[in-house]
Amino acid sequence: MKLLITGGAGFIGSNFILYVLRGHPEVTLVNVDALTYCGNLENLSSVEDNSQYRFVKANIADSEAMEPLFRENRFDAVINFAAETHVDRSITGPSVFLSTNVVGTQVLLGLSLKYQLKRFLQISTDEVYGSLPETGYFSETTPLAPNSPYSASKAAADFLVRAYVHTYEMDAVITRCSNNYGPYQFPEKLIPLMITNALEDKPLPVYGDGMNVRDWLHVEDHCRAVWAVLEKGKAGDVYNIGGSNEWHNLALVKELLQILQKPESLITFVKDRPGHDRRYAIDASKIQRELGWAPAYDFASGLRQTVAWYIENEGWWRRVKSGEYQKYYQEQYKL
Ligand code: NAD
Ligand code: TYD
Repeated sequence: MKLLITGGAGFIGSNFILYVLRGHPEVTLVNVDALTYCGNLENLSSVEDNSQYRFVKANIADSEAMEPLFRENRFDAVINFAAETHVDRSITGPSVFLSTNVVGTQVLLGLSLKYQLKRFLQISTDEVYGSLPETGYFSETTPLAPNSPYSASKAAADFLVRAYVHTYEMDAVITRCSNNYGPYQFPEKLIPLMITNALEDKPLPVYGDGMNVRDWLHVEDHCRAVWAVLEKGKAGDVYNIGGSNEWHNLALVKELLQILQKPESLITFVKDRPGHDRRYAIDASKIQRELGWAPAYDFASGLRQTVAWYIENEGWWRRVKSGEYQKYYQEQYKL
């Protein structure tokens, strides 16, 4: 099987590539990534010389750059991880979210159709469903009601995938996962930002009252779910992925401080994010029932493992936070 992975130098994409190369000798992967601020080839240094793997620097929204790849490789499937992903950045600068998340997805859909790929897997997010009150869960039939420019662009991409299924009878599948955590997550997202700030004895900025709720899943559990959907998902379907693991942000930050043995006085309440979604919670019963997937990590050990990873990989996050990481991998990879 030959797969095109987009956004493979980011957090989930790089974990997915490492996961596939660990257990699937029958698969070859081409990783296309534009190496934006959050793409980091250092994440993939352990597989740089693996003959099953190749990296290509390109923008998924640039059809002229993408078409030769489709022409020259007989891909079986595309897994589209590439995206602008940070809600706060989408509030201050939404245009690039439309270019990558919407136009980029359309370019990939068009080429997948033209070159008759067997499957298109769109990595979406639970954020397309909007915000929940204190009760209830997002199911695959919950109407989309995105609230941020990020989630609106992801919802637009989902609608394009739906349109390609309906209009061209394309074999495409969508996954919508809850918040991920684990190794290689860019330290602008809640968990790695809090861990690394605490390690540096810097303030931990908690938005608003800290009572927003997120449903956390270990990135490896997400990767296993994506693989299950690639292999066994029903064409045209949507699969929610989540850990049934809801935490108030404040409680989660306190838990991290306890693991790190750092004082709660580091917590600093800051101005809330505009339009901040209150609660996300996924009903993942469909993927459990139909594809036999279930999370393997329990949160207590997953969180401890993640904290340990950031402690052991201090060079990685210090290079990211100082901005030195891009120069570092450019020299390594002679880009
Ligand atoms: P990330 O921001 O860590 O990585 C995104 C990657 O995409 C980077 O390597 C970046 O360089 C690349 N990229 C950006 N624009 C590109 C372009 N125009 N062309 C090619 N590559 C480009 O993101 P992530 O957290 O790994 O998320 C991956 C996917 O999973 C996204 O589609 C996101 O919406 C979805 N998702 C993320 C989470 C989460 O908690 N992180 C949860 C659910 C779904
Ligand atoms: P984030 O990791 O940005 O993911 P998302 O907004 O996509 O769910 O944020 C997770 C939660 O943590 C969200 O409710 C916003 C909150 N948050 C903070 O309180 N402080 C921060 O510095 C960040 C980055 C997030």
